Amino acid sequence: MKGLILSGGKGTRLYPLTYTRAKQLIPVANEPVLFRVIRAIRDAGIDEIGIVIGDTGPEVRETVGDGSRWGVKITYIPQDRPSGLAHAVKISRDFLGDDRFVMFLGDNVIQGGINTLIEKFADSEWNSQIVLKKVANPQQFGVAELNADGSIKQLVEKPKEPKSDLALVGIYMFDHNIYEAIDNIQPSWRNELEITDAIQWLAMHEDMRVHPYVHEGWWIDTGKPIDMLDANDAVLDEMTPGIADDVEIDEASTVGRRVKIESGAKIINSIIRGPTAIGENCVIENAYIGPYTSVYHNCKVSNCELEHSIILEGSEVSDVPVRVMDSMIGRNATVSHTTQKPTAIKMNLGDHSKLWLP
Ligand code: TTP
Repeated sequence: MKGLILSGGKGTRLYPLTYTRAKQLIPVANEPVLFRVIRAIRDAGIDEIGIVIGDTGPEVRETVGDGSRWGVKITYIPQDRPSGLAHAVKISRDFLGDDRFVMFLGDNVIQGGINTLIEKFADSEWNSQIVLKKVANPQQFGVAELNADGSIKQLVEKPKEPKSDLALVGIYMFDHNIYEAIDNIQPSWRNELEITDAIQWLAMHEDMRVHPYVHEGWWIDTGKPIDMLDANDAVLDEMTPGIADDVEIDEASTVGRRVKIESGAKIINSIIRGPTAIGENCVIENAYIGPYTSVYHNCKVSNCELEHSIILEGSEVSDVPVRVMDSMIGRNATVSHTTQKPTAIKMNLGDHSKLWLP
């Protein structure tokens, strides 16, 4: 089997963080979501992986490389426009050939691996296997309605009146029949070739079998900032804690049990409460870092309190007089305090930024 990861798209719902950066490279618990997806596919025994890339392709290529770090071979497949998930499959045909394959959306985070799913599909006669998850807000997803015998009755993309609460998780398995299905569908109202329509075509075809698998663990589609924070919470909860050998922690600091601190970091007169991840070469001084926080590489946090937040690499948060919570701070950003007159809030915000004042 081969693997196909979708890492194109626009990521508009995560602006401004994704203006210039691939949303799949935003880290949760200090590991880019895309790396986690590659590991899940590799751990299921697949070592040939295609990655569909769009405008942020150069950054994805540079960060991910040829895959040798995970022991896999990666092929990049440029998509000229984000014309839909089924379009991404269509342009990957040369890479996929007639092999069975698993397609994984590069911005999805799922609990546990996909080994069982892959084994079941590899040994089956099914033409496709889809993964479903009960959700509270099905109108925001592709939704599956099942028959009493558990087979698929209907699949609808973002229905206004959902017939079930089973959403399509961003992991799909197909054989070569998916190409015929895609050739038989039309672009949707949003002018995209929808994978939901292609699977619906397969499911309605009397010779084809689409197997629905209901996932019991958590699953997060990291489309919006709140989803990113949710994914960070879930992954931090399962993280293996540990402190790299060269980390310096002074005697005045307290570091909790469920904390991961990476190489070169310094913790000075601070309290770090887990689950929390601190990246390489960070300096945390006179600070409180509360649960469910990820501070990525080369950040400085001083004279302030931080909780339930994600700070991307190279940023500085210092001297902020109130606790920073529920926040996502991009790369090389500065959040600070000034004593200069006039006393006022001063900001230098990018397009689509959001600032909440107490
Ligand atoms: P989406 O979240 O559906 O789309 P998006 O990334 O463009 O985000 P937004 O709606 O906020 O603008 O995409 C799911 C995943 O599939 C994501 O990793 C991007 C990828 N993708 C492609 O690679 N090609 C495509 O044509 C589309 C639509 C998405």
